[in-house]
Amino acid sequence: MAYMVGLDMGTTYTRIWTQEGGIVLRCPSAAAIDSETHKLVALGAKAREMLGKTPQDILAYRPIREGLVSEFEVAARMVRAMFQNKQITSTFNRPVVLMATPYRINQVQQLAAENTVFEGGAKAVAQVPAIFAAAAGAGLRVSSPRGSMILNMGGGISEVAVISSGGIIAAHSIKVAGERLDSAIINYLRQRRNLIVGGPTAEELRVTIGTCDNSLDRGSMKIYGRNARTGLASTQEVFSSEICEAITPTLGAVMKSVSTVLEDVPPEVASDIYDYGLMLSGGCARMPGLADAIHKATGLRVTIARNPRDCVINGLGRLIKHPELWGTALEYRLK
Ligand SMILES: Nc1ncnc2c1ncn2[C@@H]1O[C@H](COP(=O)(O)OP(=O)(O)OP(=O)(O)O)[C@@H](O)[C@H]1O
Ligand SMILES: [Mg+2]
Repeated sequence: MAYMVGLDMGTTYTRIWTQEGGIVLRCPSAAAIDSETHKLVALGAKAREMLGKTPQDILAYRPIREGLVSEFEVAARMVRAMFQNKQITSTFNRPVVLMATPYRINQVQQLAAENTVFEGGAKAVAQVPAIFAAAAGAGLRVSSPRGSMILNMGGGISEVAVISSGGIIAAHSIKVAGERLDSAIINYLRQRRNLIVGGPTAEELRVTIGTCDNSLDRGSMKIYGRNARTGLASTQEVFSSEICEAITPTLGAVMKSVSTVLEDVPPEVASDIYDYGLMLSGGCARMPGLADAIHKATGLRVTIARNPRDCVINGLGRLIKHPELWGTALEYRLK
């Protein structure tokens, strides 16, 4: 039997699932390449640390943006190296890969994703919507005729779907997730504090003291940045209430996405969803106050999935073992 592998190439993290090992890799989606020799000089966490601070002859990339392949060659090199490191590919061994891609991805984007994985060393590739995999991985009964709803909020995109009988009844994707929240924090600090900070600092603030409930105090954090007026280094203490104020308007788009999908489903399905609630997955699911904020905005009962960050990759594993969960046959394309 073919060697089957699950691949979730996310904006922030790439995850790999294999039949023997389960989740064998969780690694930042980043790679650094020597511009002269074209050799891969760093992968994953090491490459991410190099972003924006490499010497001239080394280029550090994040090849996945908003859930899609944006730097084809780098993405292919990254996948190839990850497959080789985990002994998934070798001279005589090429896997069959089930990969997760965003909902409503166009044909060009689909081909880019597929070719990335072929270049990475796969023998055959099939794509399944990441939001469906997330539902399967969160333990929802995806093949039951009862409607269930899921919101997966990652680093680059948030997707909402209502799933029933092994398919997607209604779904919505928006490019508002962790990174957009970080941009909102960067803009806020610049405007209110005259402080310039970069993406990693904004993310640290969001994860450490971030909340979307202003009655929830997560304390404060001292950060280093640059004064926007003087250009000099500056240290300031930032409070969780400020992060809440900075991200709340941006999060409104995610709430609206949930409401849009709810409006799109037939009344019988909507009633299932009001009975059983919404499952929340993805790296942002654990942000304090998020589940409550969604409840307040939509009236839905919200459950945070177990291991929310691994729902998509666990779902791919579940679909590899039980392909019948996805109502239509998975289309594996050969290279
Ligand atoms: N404990 C936490 N609290 C809040 N946010 C978190 C936490 N842990 C991780 N995150 C955020 O989760 C995001 C990454 O989530 P995830 O791994 O699901 O994304 P991804 O799959 O790489 O991206 P995408 O699915 O959008 O392409 C990052 O923005 C990160 O800051
Ligand atoms: Mg993801």
